[in-house]
Amino acid sequence: MSAKKARTKKSASGGADAPERVTMRIEGRDHEFPIVTGTEGEKGIDISSLRASTGYITLDDGLSNTGSCESTITFIDGERGVLRYRGIPIEELAEHSTFTETAYLVMYGELPNRRELEIFSTRLNASSLIHEDMRHFFTGLPGHAHPMAILTTVVASLSAFYPVSDDMGKDDEDRIVANLISQVRTLAACSYKMSIGEPFVYPSYKRKFVENFLYMMFASPVKNYQLDPDIVRAIDLFLLLHADHEQNCSTSTVRMAGSSLANVYAVVSAGISALWGRLHGGANQAVIEMLEGIQASGISAAGYVARLKADKERLMGFGHRVYKAYDPRAKILREYCHRILKKPGMDAPAFDIALELEEIALRDDYFLSRNLYPNVDFYSGLILKAVGFPVNMFTVLFAIGRMPGWLAQWREMRHSERSKIARPRQIYKGPALRHFVPKDER
Ligand code: CMC
Repeated sequence: MSAKKARTKKSASGGADAPERVTMRIEGRDHEFPIVTGTEGEKGIDISSLRASTGYITLDDGLSNTGSCESTITFIDGERGVLRYRGIPIEELAEHSTFTETAYLVMYGELPNRRELEIFSTRLNASSLIHEDMRHFFTGLPGHAHPMAILTTVVASLSAFYPVSDDMGKDDEDRIVANLISQVRTLAACSYKMSIGEPFVYPSYKRKFVENFLYMMFASPVKNYQLDPDIVRAIDLFLLLHADHEQNCSTSTVRMAGSSLANVYAVVSAGISALWGRLHGGANQAVIEMLEGIQASGISAAGYVARLKADKERLMGFGHRVYKAYDPRAKILREYCHRILKKPGMDAPAFDIALELEEIALRDDYFLSRNLYPNVDFYSGLILKAVGFPVNMFTVLFAIGRMPGWLAQWREMRHSERSKIARPRQIYKGPALRHFVPKDER
């Protein structure tokens, strides 16, 4: 049995560089597969007919070489450190936009005009209250529960409050979008309040998205919360930078769970669960724990990196499946750290350790040869910590930021003509056929 390397055929015009099809020789027979080209020239081989025509499947651990869909939402060029939402560079959005406006862009494909933005913001505000019966879910969970455990539970339980029909129209989708983008923030604040034994603070019509969230988090009946515009901007920027990131682990989970047409609230809860892991969204918590561990132990940054390499451990907040250059979001957050951590009362000694670690790693052949650069999680936790978020809320903030992306991807999947239930195959490596042995003969 032989499978020959794929050959490519030039386009019919003969002039273009890009081939239109590839030919794969398997067991002496040629099979042709079309090439798909993205807006920015990225190439894929459409193998949807592979098994039917050859009997073969592909094997791709971690799906690193597999395009699971066509998408119009986010573009990443990992080699050049480029990230764009709906074509607009992340740097431009970070400078000129807000989370709410960017959420609209990610969701609906265009920047909103004034009126559209006003309607969207009003919708988010109007959707921010959670059903009073949801309080029971919170009180039923242990006070020491990790806020991500609470968030997955309560977001999934929204499916009990909002049954969703299969033939939902645009208005239903818009309502779901507003509910989830807005309520995940209320639920996050409630989970924090519960964990510290304080009463929930209700959202208010008078405040904007991030202001409302900070108020629900940090105000209490005996303590008014003074909003600091720099802190509001820092959190807004954090959320904006996390709004989407194409087919990452949690987004792929959302698409996969959603492909079965399950209730969207349960689907998003699956995405939140996937995000929790320390190799994904949980890395922002792991980075701060690492930096504080270094600080507490007194080990030098150089000593820590040497030990980590010897033990084959990972430098948290470094490396990325797609970026083989500096993550553009990390670049923006690094600069912002310089700005915000200089404010009085925002002392962050861990920032100096982070800068030192980065400098060492970016001179070290181990990291350079593997293209390991800081990712979004390396600096984000420093900002969250400095503005007063407890470490175990970091991944929850990631989830609030990622909500527009999950929903946009879910919606895109629902409307794609190519969509079908996600059902990968496998290469079975277990025992060959054998027969049942009665208990006494084992
Ligand atoms: N520190 C040290 N070595 C690393 C690191 C790291 N952070 N990341 C990868 N490597 C090494 C790895 O040991 C392997 O070395 P070798 O070739 O000698 O076996 C090589 O680099 C390739 O690693 P990989 O595991 O094949 O790479 P991957 O694309 O599967 O993993 C990653 C990507 C993000 C899971 C990984 O880089 C990692 O674990 N980073 C630390 C956790 C982290 O910061 N996660 C946040 C990711 S960004 C935000 C998000 O997606 O949520």
